[in-house]
Amino acid sequence: MPGPQVLFPTFLILTVALLGVDVYTGLKAKLAAHLTFVVITVASLVAAIWFALELGELYDLESAGWITPVHLKLARIATYAYVLPTVSGIMTLRDRKHRKLHFRLAMLTLSLTVLAAVTGAWMILAAQPLPTQP
Ligand code: HEM
Repeated sequence: MPGPQVLFPTFLILTVALLGVDVYTGLKAKLAAHLTFVVITVASLVAAIWFALELGELYDLESAGWITPVHLKLARIATYAYVLPTVSGIMTLRDRKHRKLHFRLAMLTLSLTVLAAVTGAWMILAAQPLPTQP
């Protein structure tokens, strides 16, 4: 099985691509596809976070400097932000007048996810790898 060095970027890119599909299906009002892809996106995000934590164990993250606390805070905020499209999405299911609010909160969550991905990649590139154990 490939290591987190391969699995983390794979699931991260997959998550961002799936977010694009969520936006497309939402804008096209393809509700069944939208809800299905949102569930797949969240599963992919959970896998990305799982492998990110495994990848982090291979690096001395503190050696990356200020980007580490900035990324960790952003990643946490981005993860919690998924509550916003979920709650506003349920509100939109009940009454379509909430579409605009849902759209704005979905874009906010998407932007936070991309920011977390960029700062995470930056952090890993700046960190010293730990010596590999035998
Ligand atoms: C990260 C997750 C999500 C993203 C990126 C996203 C994105 C979008 C976007 C861009 C739209 C179009 C809004 C507009 O036309 O102005 C939309 C529509 C919608 N979304 Fe989401 N969404 C997400 C999660 C959810 C969830 C969790 C639900 C429900 C539980 C949901 C339910 C809906 C509904 C009902 C619509 C309206 C579709 C229609 O017009 O018939 N969305 N979404």
